Amino acid sequence: MEHTEVMVPETLDDLIKTLHKVFESDNVNVEEVQNIMESYVSKPHEWKKYGKFDQFRYTRNLVDEGNGKFNLIVLCWGEGHGSSIHDHTNSHCFMKMLQGQLKETLFEWPEAKSHGNMVQKSERILEENKVAYINDSIGLHRVENVSHTEGAVSLHLYSPPFQLCQTFDQRTGHKNTVKMTFWSKYGERTPFETTVSQENN
Ligand SMILES: [Fe+2]
Repeated sequence: MEHTEVMVPETLDDLIKTLHKVFESDNVNVEEVQNIMESYVSKPHEWKKYGKFDQFRYTRNLVDEGNGKFNLIVLCWGEGHGSSIHDHTNSHCFMKMLQGQLKETLFEWPEAKSHGNMVQKSERILEENKVAYINDSIGLHRVENVSHTEGAVSLHLYSPPFQLCQTFDQRTGHKNTVKMTFWSKYGERTPFETTVSQENN
């Protein structure tokens, strides 16, 4: 008998429940999580309360805290919005397209003593419902909505959850630590922060 037990989540709520179950274990099976997230077919009415766009930059909207095991976040990318080059703080990062397309550009970690351009490894377009995966051993990436006419929405799972990550200057490889903030949590706008914050990943 083939072992083909696949849990297909019909709704976003189903997906969240399934992810809670899978992350009860301390071992993350990357392929399993990727398959589960990919098998959910995006239905905009299920995530629209998290789908908050900003005119000037992409937003991060917290959906679920995964019993402390992961963060599930909806990111909304207006036309031309993009992240800086960043790492993932030794966590797993899964990125599922809910709407539109994003371009992912992969970079190598800069050498300690180098001061030049960062080395680009590859780039690809992520299509609707597809799931990309990255961690620090794979490299660094930049994510962009290169469309001039359409917004993009993606669902990100980070495990373990993290609040700080590093961003990198493409021309020098110099890095900065940034704190990540939420535009909304559980569908409610987050109170305005007085500290200057940068949002990444
Ligand atoms: Fe990222």
